[in-house]
Amino acid sequence: MHTSIKGKTAVISGASHGLGQAVALKLAALGAHTVLLARRLDPLTDTAEAIRAGGGKATTYTCDVSDSAQVRATAAGIQDKFGAVDILINNAGIPAPRSFVETDFAAWDEVIGVNLSGVFYLTRALWDCLVSAESASVINISGTAGLRGGGSPAYGGSKFGLTGLNYAIAEAGKAHGIRATILYPGGMDTGWRGAPIGELPRSQSMDPAVVADMVAHLAASPPEFVVNEAVLNPLDHPFM
Ligand SMILES: NC(=O)c1ccc[n+]([C@@H]2O[C@H](COP(=O)([O-])OP(=O)(O)OC[C@H]3O[C@@H](n4cnc5c(N)ncnc54)[C@H](OP(=O)(O)O)[C@@H]3O)[C@@H](O)[C@H]2O)c1
Repeated sequence: MHTSIKGKTAVISGASHGLGQAVALKLAALGAHTVLLARRLDPLTDTAEAIRAGGGKATTYTCDVSDSAQVRATAAGIQDKFGAVDILINNAGIPAPRSFVETDFAAWDEVIGVNLSGVFYLTRALWDCLVSAESASVINISGTAGLRGGGSPAYGGSKFGLTGLNYAIAEAGKAHGIRATILYPGGMDTGWRGAPIGELPRSQSMDPAVVADMVAHLAASPPEFVVNEAVLNPLDHPFM
């Protein structure tokens, strides 16, 4: 790690499960004050308690990132409490119907709302906090579907859109030392789409804790350059 995470304020969306939870635990272990967002309170509280039990710092906000009013209120609370935000991990995401004909308007709106609009809302609402930081890092969690598409219009569309949004954030941020990185992970062992956890070998389904280590390295990369993109795939399923 090049830059210390210690003492930084790190906002993580979707922090109560899967990759977001693993990132929260990792950044807290490195000394960040973690700010955890998700819709449901109980899993969020459990995650915060696990962080505090390990000596880390965590503050929770229940927030649906697809709801602009909730995001505004949450961001205002974060700004009041912390002022600056050094690290923003836009991780909250949901799966989508797998095919074009299975995708109705409601599913489209929901998936685009969480996976794409949610990233814009949260980043935009926290912009002044990111500008206030010395050198903020925004890490957007996509997926390899954001590179190769696939059968799901809503999922692929949301993740392809996220690439455009990532670069718009980087462009707007450069004058303020804000860097934006988009991470494209392949399959992770998070129970995505109800898959059983812990059954596949690591070479087929990545441990979210190991992917979280990479996220922490990205957040701690030297402020003089930006890592634009990173693609991570399980060993047995190299890209494409
Ligand atoms: N797992 C994979 O194989 C895989 C592969 C490639 C990319 N990804 C991407 O990686 C990211 C994390 O995936 P994951 O597998 O870790 O997911 P996960 O285990 O299902 O966890 C999702 C987290 O996001 C929260 N969340 C969901 N909708 C939300 C909303 N509208 N507002 C705020 N929080 C919300 C959930 O809590 P609540 O339900 O309480 O809100 C939970 O904390 C996603 O962006 C996903 O697209 C995953």
